[in-house]
Amino acid sequence: MKINKVKGTYDIYGIDSLRWQKLEDTVRKLYKLYGYGEIRTPIMEYSPVFHRDSEKSDMVMKETYDFKDRAGRDVSLRPETTAGVVRAYIENKLYAHPNLAKFYYIGPNFRYERPQKGRYRQFMQFGVEVLGGDDPLIDVEVIQLAYQTIKTLGLKGVKVCINSLGDSKSRSDYEQALKEHFKDTSTLCSDCKERYERNVLRILDCKIDQNNPLVLSAPLINDYLTEESKKRNEFIIKMLNELKIPFDYDPKLVRGLDYYSHIVFEIKADIEGFGAQNVLGGGGRYQGLVEELGGPKIGGVGFAFGMERLLYAIEAEGIPFIEEEKPLCYILTTDQKEVGPAMKILSDLREDGFIAEMNLVYQPLKNQIKRAVSSGAKYFLFIGEEEIKQNVVSVKNSVTQEQEVVPLKILSKYLKENLADE
Ligand code: HAM
Repeated sequence: MKINKVKGTYDIYGIDSLRWQKLEDTVRKLYKLYGYGEIRTPIMEYSPVFHRDSEKSDMVMKETYDFKDRAGRDVSLRPETTAGVVRAYIENKLYAHPNLAKFYYIGPNFRYERPQKGRYRQFMQFGVEVLGGDDPLIDVEVIQLAYQTIKTLGLKGVKVCINSLGDSKSRSDYEQALKEHFKDTSTLCSDCKERYERNVLRILDCKIDQNNPLVLSAPLINDYLTEESKKRNEFIIKMLNELKIPFDYDPKLVRGLDYYSHIVFEIKADIEGFGAQNVLGGGGRYQGLVEELGGPKIGGVGFAFGMERLLYAIEAEGIPFIEEEKPLCYILTTDQKEVGPAMKILSDLREDGFIAEMNLVYQPLKNQIKRAVSSGAKYFLFIGEEEIKQNVVSVKNSVTQEQEVVPLKILSKYLKENLADE
C-alpha cells in the first residue's frame, strides 16, 4: 500500500537540507550576538495554553490540531511557539531571575490551513521572546533584531511595517469606535460579519474587504491611543529612526493573534508571485499573556519568521546562499580484493577531516570512474595490487589530470599542502 505524506507537509533532502541548515546556522549565530539563548519547548501542550478566553483568532478557533491523549487529556499541537515559551517561563519560575529572559527558538508549528505555496499545515518558524520587562527599549531591540535578520540574509525587497494597538484602554475605545463604524455589516464578506462579533479589529486585515469603502473609511487606532501609549510609540519611532531602521507606519496593521498590545510589526516581502504569503514574519508586545497563563503581571515582546517563506524569498532574489559540499577524495580500486585496505584508507582520511567517498557497491573500474566523476571529487585515489604492496596510493587531480604516487604515510599532509596552495 502506498502512503503519501500528510496534506500540507513536505520532505526536505539533498541540497534543500543544506539551505535549511544554513538558515538555522545564520539565525543561531546572529541571535547569540544579541544575547539570546535557545529555548526548546514541546510541540504539544495542554490545550488551554492556546485555547484561552481572550484568544479568539482564526488560528486558535479554527486551525489548531486538538486531540485527546490516551488518558483523556486535551492536548494541542502548537500553532505558534510564543504561548508555550510563556508557559515554560512561568512553570520554571524564570521570572525570579533579575535579568530579562531573552530566548530564541527554531521549530515546527501546526495549523490546519488551506495549503498553498508558502502556507503549510506543518511549517517551521524561528523567533524570539523577551520576557520580564515593559520598557519600550526592549521593543526597539526586538524590531532591530528582526530587521537585522533580513539584512544578514541579504534580502532587499523587504519592508518593516509597524503600528501600535495601544494599552487596554486605547484598544477597547478603538474597538467600540469600530463596532459603531461597522454597525451595518451588510456590505462585508461572510468572514467579516463573524469577525464583527468575535474581534472587530480583524476586519481591517481582511483580504476580501480590503477595498471596501467601509473598511477604507474606518477610524484609525492613532486617534484612540492614550497619552501614555502615544508617548511609548513616539519613543520607539524616534529610536528606530536613530538606528536607521527603515519602516512604514501602517495604522491598519492588526496581526492575526489577539494577545498583542502596544507595538505590532510585520516584515513583508515585495516579491512577485508571493500573494497573500508575502508576510515573512511578524510580532509585537503582549502585556496580558503571562498573567493569563498563571504567571506574574509581566510583559513580553517577540516575533517569529516563517522559514519556508524566507527560503522562497532568498531564492526569488537570487541570493547565493549555499555551496554544495563535494567530496575531496574518491577512492577507486582496480580489483574487489583491494576494498578492505581501501576502506581503511577511506576511514583514515575521514578521521583526518577530509570529505571522502568510495563506491560501496563494487563495480568494474570503468563504472567506478563514472561515479567518481559524477561525485565532483577533486582527487581520485587509485588503489591496486602494486599500490598496496608499496604502501602508496596513485592520486589523480581530476581538474589538471596530473597524477602522482603518494606514500600512504604522508597522504593527509600531501592533501593539506595541495589545498593550502590553491
Ligand atoms: P504569526 O504571524 O502567526 O505570528 O506567524 C509568524 C510567521 O510564521 C508568519 O509571518 C509566516 O511567515 C509564518 N507562517 C504562519 N503560518 C504559516 C503557515 N501555515 N505556513 C507557512 N508559514 C506560516 C506568530 O506565530 C507569533 N507567535 C509571533 C510572535 C512571537 N509574536 C510575539 N512573539
